[in-house]
Amino acid sequence: MKRTRELLDLLGIDLPIVLAPMAGNSTPELVAAVSNAGGLGSYGCAMLSREQLIEEAQRMKALTNHSFNLNFFCHAPPNVTAEQERAWRDKLAPYYGEFGVDPNATVSGNRRPFDDETCEAVLAIAPKIVSFHFGMPNAEQVSRLKAAGMVLMSSATTSAEARRLVELGADVIVAQGLEAGGHRGMFLSSDINTQVGTMALVPQVVDAVNVPVIASGGVADARGVAAALALGAAAVQVGTAYLFTPQAKVSALHRAALRVTRDDATVLTNLFTGRPARGIVNRFVRELGPMNATAPQFPMAANAVTPLRAQVEQRGSGDFTPLWSGQAAALAHETDASELTRALATGALELLRDLGDRSRAEQQAHRAPAGR
Ligand SMILES: Cc1cc2nc3c(=O)[nH]c(=O)nc-3n(C[C@H](O)[C@H](O)[C@H](O)COP(=O)(O)O)c2cc1C
Repeated sequence: MKRTRELLDLLGIDLPIVLAPMAGNSTPELVAAVSNAGGLGSYGCAMLSREQLIEEAQRMKALTNHSFNLNFFCHAPPNVTAEQERAWRDKLAPYYGEFGVDPNATVSGNRRPFDDETCEAVLAIAPKIVSFHFGMPNAEQVSRLKAAGMVLMSSATTSAEARRLVELGADVIVAQGLEAGGHRGMFLSSDINTQVGTMALVPQVVDAVNVPVIASGGVADARGVAAALALGAAAVQVGTAYLFTPQAKVSALHRAALRVTRDDATVLTNLFTGRPARGIVNRFVRELGPMNATAPQFPMAANAVTPLRAQVEQRGSGDFTPLWSGQAAALAHETDASELTRALATGALELLRDLGDRSRAEQQAHRAPAGR
């Protein structure tokens, strides 16, 4: 497993298991549990203010001496007209009426793209690894992070995106298959119909680039890890399965939905933020989605949805909550994040060893002289 060895050395970790960054669900405790177990803990920072970013990073440093990864979004700043905003609110008007929400209520300011101010903060924090979703930062930011010795990773959903990310300075590619929970990292296309499953994507990305590839999407147990390594990935990045751990920040509503979800219960929807993301179907998705052309550009769709979500959640319902989940949630179960990290790695090694033993035994049986 030369590829895996090279990646582990590059990232300074022991196990080929990367905790997916999950903006809104990450905690320093989750990151530290994974990093202390030998994997790579990642924190999804896209919804943090600069002050929160610094505080959370301090907490991570207090909880682990091992490598960790900070993750940011690289989307273009949104440009939403008043008409687009109005059209979206008109779509939501019946729900505002039903739940007594002020039709002009707004919650904004979250999911900021990576900018110079964030870059300064990251340089001061000095994590070993920085990763991105929706592309890469600008050339100057990339060279500043690299000059400081940081390893840069980013998500690709096609082999063309993987090649582009390497041109833009990515040292490692996270190949994100269609099964993945949360937002699609897609940035060269917005057509969800041509997005690729992990099984087909990983080997094609491995062939397309000469940097290590981490497989992501639909891996929730050791069988998925072994399969991803067999496809040529150097490691896996796992999100949904870690939502089941006590260290993840997941609301009771979200946890309850995850617990009973099945392989056919999720869809890609743009209703919550304006970008396609995989989550569990609920009333909002059923009635207005899953994709709706009126939803304003990412992340602005959220401004009008969040007050509605908050109001409905107060009544104990997740009908308007983004219940992010990948297709493999039903394979996951409640367990500690350190234990999950170790179980994924050791289970995969056992499976690969068994496969090796079996194939050696078969070869020997083949070579043995025919019985008399
Ligand atoms: C709740 C949730 C939030 C996510 N947030 C981010 C994020 O902030 N940044 C990112 O790069 N990927 C994010 N992702 C995508 C993951 O990096 C990864 O591609 C995905 O979780 C892998 O599929 P799985 O969920 O089947 O393990 C998120 C995924 C989930 C489930």
